[in-house]
Amino acid sequence: MQPFDETAEESRTEGSKASAVSALVVAVGGGKGGIGKSMIAANLAVALAKQGARVIAVDADLGSANLHTLFGIDHPETSLQALIDGRAQRLDQLMIETGVPRLSLIAGSVALPGAANLQHARKQKLLRHIAKLPADVVVLDCGAGVHYNVVDFFAAAQLQLLISNAQLISMQNAYGFLKASLYRALRQRASDAGRAALLDKATEAPSEVETMNQLLERVADADPALSVELRATLTRVRVSLLGNQLTDARELRALHALSRMIGDFLSLRVPVLGGLCQRERIHTAVTRRRPFLLEGAVDPEGRALMQLAASLLEQRAFAPLPGATEARASSPNTRAVSGTQPQAGAPQPAAASAKYERQRAYARSSPSWPSTAADAPSEVRPGARRDRLGA
Ligand SMILES: Nc1ncnc2c1ncn2[C@@H]1O[C@H](COP(=O)(O)OP(=O)(O)OP(=O)(O)O)[C@@H](O)[C@H]1O
Ligand SMILES: [Mg+2]
Repeated sequence: MQPFDETAEESRTEGSKASAVSALVVAVGGGKGGIGKSMIAANLAVALAKQGARVIAVDADLGSANLHTLFGIDHPETSLQALIDGRAQRLDQLMIETGVPRLSLIAGSVALPGAANLQHARKQKLLRHIAKLPADVVVLDCGAGVHYNVVDFFAAAQLQLLISNAQLISMQNAYGFLKASLYRALRQRASDAGRAALLDKATEAPSEVETMNQLLERVADADPALSVELRATLTRVRVSLLGNQLTDARELRALHALSRMIGDFLSLRVPVLGGLCQRERIHTAVTRRRPFLLEGAVDPEGRALMQLAASLLEQRAFAPLPGATEARASSPNTRAVSGTQPQAGAPQPAAASAKYERQRAYARSSPSWPSTAADAPSEVRPGARRDRLGA
């Protein structure tokens, strides 16, 4: 994890007793509200712990923390708010047992509605502490929306899991979320004031800055070395797409189209790992406030998350699940990672490419990059229009 603003003065005592071994920090985000980010974060954390890893799940949804609820905890005895307001010295003092062996939770602030408006310096402190947590893997559950206090957690993780369903609005939000996150990663790289101003100016250029390439070319005109550094930063970004709430295997094609669009417009290779289907069992487990992976039955969604966890522990990276490649996803005999057969009447390839064209049109019509104005509080709950990129 590369905490932002490493130049900021750091307390000499903070994190000093934390483990010397740095955890792999994995963020789960996606932009849109209610698409299963917390459900996936909770169950991925369980899958990792089941396979022997020491895991800490951190609720980084500052505006609407509820990861504890998914573990059946009503009122967390403590939360990361204690570190933010100085009542705790270290984040590892705030770990709560989940009842799952090797899996602890750091709850988000539930009592303070203002928690989402975290001041910059406090956010840096929090990010530094997360990077020092004593675990093999830290799973960050990010909130919805493109507020900096959401995307900065996503951007600072070493591995990023971008969640989307196959609906256009969800993919638009995922795209906007990733775009905002990349901008923040680049902005962090352009750390001195002059270079930051240069990057800001390039994003604000009146002519259309449609793609990452165009943005970096604009930067290169003024500062070729910075452009090279920013391109290098982009090559270190490791983000993968995971579908959720899919109706059948063919819907994976829409995610592949989103992946292509990200490649075309944001110059980033984002593999599609696969997808989880909409399942009554998952919904019921959330209602019961218990991760569905603890319910015993082995189903395709459970297997998918266990496989993702295994690949992460073996390679410190996610490997695509069987059946997730585009060729198989578009075959009539394909099976989703959940094993669901395509339904009669499911969209045909032509429809998928039409969807891609709509996505491209969306990307073209949202040339602007996030500005500092995006650091203002945003509406982040399901149904709200959060994507500021087209504004
Ligand atoms: N694969 C699935 N099958 C059935 N229900 C699902 C699935 N994924 C998510 N859900 C349901 O969607 C709802 C929202 O899930 P969750 O809280 O994890 O979303 P979120 O993206 O974290 O939302 P928020 O943006 O509010 O934090 C829950 O009621 C959950 O049961
Ligand atoms: Mg959530």
